[in-house]
Amino acid sequence: MAPTANPRIVFAKAPVVGNFLVEGENIVYEKTPTIDLDQKLESGQFLTKTLLLSPEPYMRERMRDPSLPSYGTPMKLGQPIVGTGLVIVLRSEKEGIKAGDYMLGFTPWEAYTVQPYVEPRVEFKGFAPGTFDMDTLALQPVPNPGGAFPWRSFCSALGLPGFTGYVGLEKFGNAKAGETIFVSSGASGVGSMVIQLAKIKGLKVIASAGSDEKVEYMRSIGADAPFNYKKSKSALQDELKAHGPIDLYFDNVGGEHLEAALDNMNLNGRVIACGAISEYNIPREKRYGIKNMSRMFPLRLNLQGFLITDHLGMQPRFLEEIPPLLAQGKLKVKEHLFHGLENGIEAFQSLFDGSATAKPVLVVDEEYAS
Ligand SMILES: NC(=O)c1ccc[n+]([C@@H]2O[C@H](COP(=O)([O-])OP(=O)(O)OC[C@H]3O[C@@H](n4cnc5c(N)ncnc54)[C@H](OP(=O)(O)O)[C@@H]3O)[C@@H](O)[C@H]2O)c1
Repeated sequence: MAPTANPRIVFAKAPVVGNFLVEGENIVYEKTPTIDLDQKLESGQFLTKTLLLSPEPYMRERMRDPSLPSYGTPMKLGQPIVGTGLVIVLRSEKEGIKAGDYMLGFTPWEAYTVQPYVEPRVEFKGFAPGTFDMDTLALQPVPNPGGAFPWRSFCSALGLPGFTGYVGLEKFGNAKAGETIFVSSGASGVGSMVIQLAKIKGLKVIASAGSDEKVEYMRSIGADAPFNYKKSKSALQDELKAHGPIDLYFDNVGGEHLEAALDNMNLNGRVIACGAISEYNIPREKRYGIKNMSRMFPLRLNLQGFLITDHLGMQPRFLEEIPPLLAQGKLKVKEHLFHGLENGIEAFQSLFDGSATAKPVLVVDEEYAS
């Protein structure tokens, strides 16, 4: 068979620490690579076609100078970037996997891949426990939803973001009906799951996001007091004062959001440190310095961080509980669709530049856009 186009997005050059990635320099769209779809597969290999990809904030952390330690293994320079996505198997020489199977998990950002995606391992001295080689988060078979919910849910509610919100709240929230939770980045994949699970548990939900459109979305999924933190300089403090005190803060943002939450916590409050997206593209010396950590002791606060990769054992329970809620319309998730690998870099940058109107999903095969 003639070679087939296999466009991809490559991690070309490590960015300056704390800087935004520059398109065409740090991450590059390559249109010209090709693949022989009839090539002989070795025993254990299988050929997949990429259907949907999920741009996610932690990928930024992996796109760094490989000599710098962090919580996940660095991506490999000169190779396609890797993230979670939905693929379909075209041919297989691996026992238990057959043509037509749908699989969800880590996969390179390219149109076709001979899996497993084998690349030289970089020795990683991370922060044990939790040290985790992210390239080993294997693809797992998933069923065809058969119209019960959209395919793209595999990159939002049923993907890593939804699972993270579920684990954060279920395992660390200790949430009780009647309590007040504040969810930052409430329109994100993680945040929108937390808002809805918190409502199911009977909590009052305060939620922040960066646009009026996102405020309406957060209201539509049940947030009692959604607000636009960009509306004014004092919006964070004003809204939290008006709707607090906060028993539980689900922190996706860090920085100024965390400081404002600490100012408005209730006695014995809990903070779940899930992410700090306000800091991912800013050098350490320029980050927002939190000035009120001393509120931790008189208020007897508890701050708990977690990494989802330590809790993969909860996935079977998650995949049992969440799909029925989606199918019954009890969970609603909004995605911002980007179309085509050629728009993959724009999709990735939308996580950080405020242009995503909801959880971004990159549609590689249009048949799976809905
Ligand atoms: N602990 C874990 O294991 C784990 C796993 C997955 C994700 N996370 C974390 O969970 C958080 C949400 O992830 P996600 O995948 O759900 O994200 P997402 O759907 O991709 O949404 C990211 C949103 O973050 C907001 N944002 C970007 N820059 C910001 C800034 N400087 N200040 C405030 N908000 C900013 C933007 O929304 P606005 O328009 O609202 O600003 C953006 O749409 C991230 O912090 C991520 O790192 C943690």
